[in-house]
Amino acid sequence: MSLKSLSILAGRGRGGETEDIPRIDLAPGDTLAVVGPTGSGKSELLSDIEQLADGDTPSGRRILLNGEVPDRMPLGLVATLSQRTNFVIDTDVSTFISTHAACMGKVAEDWPGTVLVLANTLCGEPIQRRDPLQGLSGGQTRALMIADIALISDAPVILLDELENAGIDKHAAIAALADRGKIILTATHDPVLVLMGRRRVVMRGGAMSRLHVLDASETAWQAHLSELDEVFQFARNILRGGERLPAKGLPCHT
Ligand SMILES: Nc1ncnc2c1ncn2[C@@H]1O[C@H](COP(=O)(O)OP(=O)(O)O)[C@@H](O)[C@H]1O
Ligand SMILES: [Mg+2]
Repeated sequence: MSLKSLSILAGRGRGGETEDIPRIDLAPGDTLAVVGPTGSGKSELLSDIEQLADGDTPSGRRILLNGEVPDRMPLGLVATLSQRTNFVIDTDVSTFISTHAACMGKVAEDWPGTVLVLANTLCGEPIQRRDPLQGLSGGQTRALMIADIALISDAPVILLDELENAGIDKHAAIAALADRGKIILTATHDPVLVLMGRRRVVMRGGAMSRLHVLDASETAWQAHLSELDEVFQFARNILRGGERLPAKGLPCHT
């Protein structure tokens, strides 16, 4: 199907109260951050979308596609990446990628090579073509899935649940997925990821309680926090590689 919009229609919070935000409409290319303390209902909101809830989940929310209740779940609509995501099939990386590409009717290129180049920019330890899928580390698994979602899967909706805990370069991961005309929802506690979305919904007690739009001052914050994050990343990579930090100067001030 060609997806032009996905709408979330409010249901109720955990205590049964009507949600303050009655409806959120998302179009291809939109990124919505989902924020709120642990237990506030972020994963539940993502799960409502994944299941195309129709008043039949604990929240009572309804999801519309192109303004209507879909009569059935369109195949390959949603790709989800959570902390618990793992491969269950028993094959090697290269066979998995070429099989998936063939299923999607993509046969011409060296897909394993292309996907691995991207995946290996996201995780520390390189993934090899002949590695068994189930032998990959958590970070490698998530990096491979992100690259697969970005390059092979045609899912127009992507759900990311606490990507910052997935052991991969989260900003590179979002950059790989953004600008591909997909609808991205990202539940996160990471300020840089929160501010990457133009809008963010705030969860409280299981309910959508506020909807903020990024303003000019938050855009400036976003740039500042990204710079700080690069400094952390720089130091982390050096320390993780067993090297010493430079005697003076930070990377963005030298
Ligand atoms: N609107 C809701 N109605 C009923 N139960 C809810 C609602 N939202 C969340 N829950 C339940 O509350 C618990 C915590 O929600 P969860 O989505 O896991 O929070 P978070 O991901 O923010 O940590 C879960 O058991 C979830 O099923
Ligand atoms: Mg959660």
